[in-house]
Amino acid sequence: MADFDPVTKAVVPAAGLGTRFLPATKATPKEMLPIVDKPAIQYVVEEAASAGLLDVLMVTGKNKRSIEDHFDRAYELEDVLEAKGDEHRLSQVREPASLATLHYVRQGEPKGLGHAVLCAKQHVGDHPFACLLGDDLIDRRDPLLQRMIEVRGAYGGSVIALMEVPREQVSLYGVATIEATGEDDVVKVVDLVEKPPVEEAPSNWAIIGRYVLDPEVFAVLEETPPGRGGEIQLTDALRTLAGRDADKGGPVHGVLFRGRRYDTGDKLDYLRTVVKFAADRPDLAPDFLPWLREFLDEIG
Ligand code: G1P
Repeated sequence: MADFDPVTKAVVPAAGLGTRFLPATKATPKEMLPIVDKPAIQYVVEEAASAGLLDVLMVTGKNKRSIEDHFDRAYELEDVLEAKGDEHRLSQVREPASLATLHYVRQGEPKGLGHAVLCAKQHVGDHPFACLLGDDLIDRRDPLLQRMIEVRGAYGGSVIALMEVPREQVSLYGVATIEATGEDDVVKVVDLVEKPPVEEAPSNWAIIGRYVLDPEVFAVLEETPPGRGGEIQLTDALRTLAGRDADKGGPVHGVLFRGRRYDTGDKLDYLRTVVKFAADRPDLAPDFLPWLREFLDEIG
């Protein structure tokens, strides 16, 4: 039965134009912006790999070649580091190519997240798959994706990740209407709305960028008209699936996430994330944190 089909593939949409980060993203994909010393997208691929998803499809667009280079071998650089005997840097350079098998498909036209996911149809086939959005980083100590895969195994259908956000922020997210199940961290999703005005939001439970999707989502996306912002929205397709029975690709469950999530979507979020990651790094924190305290005192 399809419900017990294991999840082995991950889809990472990385075709956005990165307009919130211009001019840095004029020639560099936003996914390649470093969080301390690693591009954001590497954390995402590491997360997929540590959830056992070793087949990763990136949905890319124009200007994204550096992503492919990053996850490829770099023989020239490796030769130089090898000759110097710099084992540490050598392993850092080799690591991205060893994390997972990367595949690429281009989105062609920027028609929204739902359309980006639809571009994965041929590669994914008739199997459930995970989808990870690069703007959200999940702390490696909080294994959200593993839990979502478990929930898919138990309930079938699709699984989204939900996080409680302050009321004034709901219009930045897809928002869910939920019902309790017998499990503390699992809810049934009965309705969804993409980026509602604050006064129309059905709850404070926001969709964050991790999904485990039933392959039926492709057929639904093909029929989903453009929604919020004139784009084909994944949230709208999930709304359709939430109303369906198991034999038609439903239901949709939510895993309530109470762990550490880092948003890198805009400049302010990005700055916060870099500071938090640096503060957690044993090689940097001992120098960085005293400096940070001093700096904050200085500027009052
Ligand atoms: C996308 C989804 C939205 C979700 C969000 C999470 O929006 O459309 O439902 O809440 O990711 O980060 P975006 O942030 O790409 O506009």
